[in-house]
Formats: sequence, C-alpha cells, structure tokens
Amino acid sequence: MRMYDVIKKKRDGGELSTEEINYFVKGVTDGSIPDYQISALCMAIYFKGMTSRETCDLTFAVRDSGDRLDFSEINGIRVDKHSTGGVGDKTSLVVAPIVASLGVKVAKMSGRGLGHTGGTIDKLEAIDGFQTTLSDADFMKQVNDIGFAIVGQSRQFAPADKKLYALRDVTATVDSMPLIAASIMGKKLAADDDCIVLDVKTGSGSFMKTVEDSKALAKLMVDIGKSAGKKMVALITNMDRPLGRAIGNSLEVIEAVETLQGKGPADFTEVCLTLAAYMLSLAGKGSAEECRAMAEKAIADGSALKKLIETVGAQGGNKKLIENPATFAKAKYSHAVKSVRDGYIGAVDTEAYGLASLALGAGRNTVEDEIDYSAGIILKRKTGDFVKAGEEIATLYSCNKQSFARAEEILLSATEVCKDKPAEEPLVYCIVE
Ligand code: URA
Repeated sequence: MRMYDVIKKKRDGGELSTEEINYFVKGVTDGSIPDYQISALCMAIYFKGMTSRETCDLTFAVRDSGDRLDFSEINGIRVDKHSTGGVGDKTSLVVAPIVASLGVKVAKMSGRGLGHTGGTIDKLEAIDGFQTTLSDADFMKQVNDIGFAIVGQSRQFAPADKKLYALRDVTATVDSMPLIAASIMGKKLAADDDCIVLDVKTGSGSFMKTVEDSKALAKLMVDIGKSAGKKMVALITNMDRPLGRAIGNSLEVIEAVETLQGKGPADFTEVCLTLAAYMLSLAGKGSAEECRAMAEKAIADGSALKKLIETVGAQGGNKKLIENPATFAKAKYSHAVKSVRDGYIGAVDTEAYGLASLALGAGRNTVEDEIDYSAGIILKRKTGDFVKAGEEIATLYSCNKQSFARAEEILLSATEVCKDKPAEEPLVYCIVE
C-alpha cells in the first residue's frame, strides 16, 4: 500500500477501506509516514469528509494505537464525562465529586489546555502539591476507596492522536467533524468506562459554531461509543459566552469550590447539575429528573465538596486551599477593564476571551510554555447585563503587568455593548441519546 494512493483516493472523494485507515494510523504511530503526507490526508478528510464507517474505523485505530486501560479491578459502574473544550469550562471539578459522592465511580483521565481552551489537568496543578500522575494500581485503589481519581493522559495513551492533533493544530484541520470525533472517542474508548456523557460545546468559543453542526458531531460520537458497547448520551451546551465568571486556572478552581458550596454562578451551576444528572442516570441511579434532585442535594448537604477535598488530599494536594479558597496565591497585579459606553453586553467572541486569558499567562502557546496559575479574568458583566460607561466589565489578573494592554484590547474588541437587551439563549440546547 502507498500513502500517496490513500491521499489521492480521499482527495477525489473516495471511501477509504478499513485496511487503508489502519495502514495510515499505524504509519502515524510508528513514524513511517512523514508529516507532510499525514497533513495532506487530514486536509483531504477536512474537505471530503468521511462516512460513519470510516469515522468508526479511524476511531478504533486511534484507540488501538497505544495502551488500553483495564479498569476491571474497580468495583461498580464507571462513568466519565468529556467536554469538547470551551472557555471557563471547569465542570469536571464539580460534576465528578457530585457523582462520586452519590456512589458512582469516576476514574478520570483529563487533558491540558492548548490554544484558547483550558484543560482540567492545568487547573488541578494550580492546587499546591496535587499529583496528576498515579500508577495504575494507586489510581484504581483510589477510585475503589473514595470513588474518584483524576490523572493526565500518559504518553502511551492513543499516541496516534497526539501526533495527529499536533499536525492538525498547525495545518488548520482541527475543525473537521470526523477528525474531532475520532480524536475524542479514540481517547475515551482507550479508557475503560461503562458510561460516557459528552458535553458538546456550541458557539463562538467552541470548534462547532452552530447548534446543527454540534448535534451532528454529538450524534456521530454517541453512535461510535454505542458501537463499542458503551452507554452514551451527549448534551449540546452553550459556548457563545464563557461558562461562569472565572477564566484561568486557580480562579476557576475557586469558582468550582464556590459552586460546590452552593454559591456558584447560575449558568455554571445549571450546566454542572445537568451533566451530573445524566452521568448518574446512565449509571442506573434513576431518571434524569430524580438524579438532578440527588445532585442538588449533594451540593446542599456538603457531601460533594467533602468528596473534592478527600480527592485533593489523596492525590497530595493542599486540602486547606479547597477548604478555604481565599488562601490561593493571588496574582501580583490586577487591572480593571471598563466599558467605554452605556448599554447591554451583547454578543461576545468567547474564543477571544480565551485568547485574552492566554495573553495574561494562564495558558500555553506551545507545550513547553510555563503557566501562571494565578493569571486570568473575572467577568463582572456577561451577555444580557447592563453596563454604564466607566463601569467594570472584567478584572484581569497576571504576574506580568505588561500583558494587560494586549488582553484589554482583545477583550474590548470581543465584547459588543448594544442599545437593546439581547434575547436569552438556552444553556443546554438539547440532549442527544
Ligand atoms: N478535543 C480533542 O481531544 N480532539 C479534537 O480534535 C478536538 C477537541
């Protein structure tokens, strides 16, 4: 088989066979196919798409490109949730403790942020001492003992995706539905969970800009998961604005803790409760409505917060930071971004908000970049809120004072201030089962 012929077939709109897809992914993994040919096929897929059969084959080949986890030593149903990536998306820090506090096991592997979206592992590393690597034995013991453990992805986990994603990122081929589905589901299926809830983001801060595209992506991923024997559900959630008010690692951990204390922002709390309800329901705890009530109670009675504190302690993190989030290290400098006119906050470019946070030092442009865990943004006004000229829209935090000018410029040009109050948009558009 020749890679040239595989590229040409897809370029001309052909359907690749299982053998051709396996040949491609094997060559990506062992380095025998050069980057320019991998990139060329990604571009051909971007333009010509893939059938569901091809997408399933690509997903399974990505899953099988490295180690597959065996969670059989974990007692009970294991449930995971995965977000397609957004700005201010700290839901894992809230939903996993809720679900674990209600007796369902959460054995979670999470990623780091790259580009405008944050990553759960970076947020956890904002907690002093928190270990994001555990041996398989310690990981499973922790899940059995306290119901929840969370680690980063090891190098041998779906290595084909690592290579593919790095090349897609620099060849403008990230936002292709079959490539996203195979990337996300390849990794999810390499882990050994029984049930998966997908949080498919839609809008200006996500890869899928329209609800229709997000639904199609969700359906594709749900079908792939089901064909691999998993219980699946996907929620289409709003990313036309950041989730909650905090963007940036320690700021988001603080907001997650406040949410578990029952004091979180309404939009973020609502999305967390809905995700937790579907995770519990897939795990057989009752209907989505019953499970939502259970999730609300786990926040109200403090058991979910207790579970987060227990997990942080078990993974070497400083529990005192979670017990009293006011003790998190503060950024050296802060800066108020003020509105130049009166009006309602209208449409915002959520991706640009993520980029503003990146400019402050909260994320990485390359994998080698160091993060300023205290950097980020607290939004004082969000879409639909009224603001007067001179009033604060957001507070910026950073240890690098020079970064404020650029971040402010990005934020202001990403925020529309308009005369009329914008129509309310749903937080959860629909459920794909
Ligand atoms: N997240 C992933 O893991 N892969 C993609 O392709 C997009 C989002």
